[in-house]
Amino acid sequence: MGDRFDAAVVGAGAAGMMAAAVAARRGLRVVLIDHAERLAEKIRISGGGRCNFTNLGASPAQFLSRNPDFCRSALRAYGPGDFLDLLRAHRVSWHEKHRGQLFCDDSSESIIQVLRRECEAGGVRWRMPCAVRAVGREADGFRLDTVTGPIRAARLVLATGGMAIPQMGATDFSLRIARQFGLRIVEPRPALVPLTFDPDQWRPYAALAGVSLEVRLSHEAAAPEDGGKRPRRPVRAEFLEDLLFTHRGLSGPGILQISSHWRPGDPIRIDLSPGRDMAEALVAAKTGGRQTVAAALAQVWPRRLAEAWLGAAGQAAGPEAGDARDRRELEGLAGLRLADAPDRRLRALAGHIHGWTLWPTGTAGYKKAEVMSGGVDTDELDQRSLESRRCPGLHVIGEAVDVTGWLGGYNFQWAWSSGVACGRAL
Ligand code: FDA
Repeated sequence: MGDRFDAAVVGAGAAGMMAAAVAARRGLRVVLIDHAERLAEKIRISGGGRCNFTNLGASPAQFLSRNPDFCRSALRAYGPGDFLDLLRAHRVSWHEKHRGQLFCDDSSESIIQVLRRECEAGGVRWRMPCAVRAVGREADGFRLDTVTGPIRAARLVLATGGMAIPQMGATDFSLRIARQFGLRIVEPRPALVPLTFDPDQWRPYAALAGVSLEVRLSHEAAAPEDGGKRPRRPVRAEFLEDLLFTHRGLSGPGILQISSHWRPGDPIRIDLSPGRDMAEALVAAKTGGRQTVAAALAQVWPRRLAEAWLGAAGQAAGPEAGDARDRRELEGLAGLRLADAPDRRLRALAGHIHGWTLWPTGTAGYKKAEVMSGGVDTDELDQRSLESRRCPGLHVIGEAVDVTGWLGGYNFQWAWSSGVACGRAL
């Protein structure tokens, strides 16, 4: 016959543990199933081991989804302040690092222990490690065939997250089971992920691997989605963040942010000197002596970047967009004395610095992504309970839902908020 529960939660990660704990503390019989050997590996490795567990400024504006309003109800019902109350109750201390991002003072292990203790306080039953072979519908709920025997439950919660970092056990389980019950899926993609370029075109910039600087990045949606329907995501995205050159392309927080908006075929635009008028600065510096153009740039950039970028940007076959005539203006500029450089060429250089437009050819994929975007279509779910409209009793929470946060603690906040909304509704 197997064990019978009020609710079975598959996936003991951030959202799954939260939902199980909340439901169990309400008196429900809950089983939490996970195929991993170690509990909540993504929480453990997150935020460099200190878990950026929320962001003080979390609001629907920092989430991407076909329906950007979907997350509103869950975030309102359980926001960053509520999670902080939970941490206070468990005597976990934290600090703010950057723009509202909160990290544990000690280690991310303290977040895992909070959730584990909450589950234990409610009497959650654990099945771990335990793989689920199949899921079926029965008259009064769901039947799960697991490697440790069958489990029956009136309600089933899919909380296995996204496909980022498959080397750590991430799977498409929630999407597969959602599809089995007829739920539509928004095509999943790696997000918060480095962007890559054609290796031949990137070669001139590969020497810059390791160089980092603050830039302004922007992206404009090139084409409508969904067979011509108006895209529901924001059309223009812009971030002022650090950029990191790598051997294969670009990374760093700014690129991770923009990658969630980027689609194959779209260009990205980078202002390499935000907040400064480079045309004016370069032309004004002409009177300042014998320095070369590269040396003048090295006063505002890392020297390696000034020299190599200027040389690479003047080459014809790079990953850049743009007018070949403009590119010719940059050829040989690096070694030219600033005083000898025509204003016209310096203005072309400044235009290139403020509007470096690149065509990435791909992403570094799920192996390097922090999250998966896309997932179970929000139109399929009730925003208060995360329950399927099509298949009553089936809930989907966390990253498996088509709600993707920006970098900076927003994805965990969505896991907590959607987990609590579901746990209260089970
Ligand atoms: P989560 O991935 O937490 O949990 C899913 C669980 O399901 C796992 O325990 C897994 O073992 C289990 N599972 C998977 N397939 C299964 C199957 N077939 N059967 C049974 N169990 C299965 N976010 C943030 O806000 N701040 C941060 O600092 C970071 N940092 C960060 C670093 C790195 C390297 C990564 C990869 C990701 C982040 N994130 C992040 C993102 C964050 O980790 C992520 O969005 C949440 O963990 C999602 O919570 P979920 O509960 O949905 O999935």
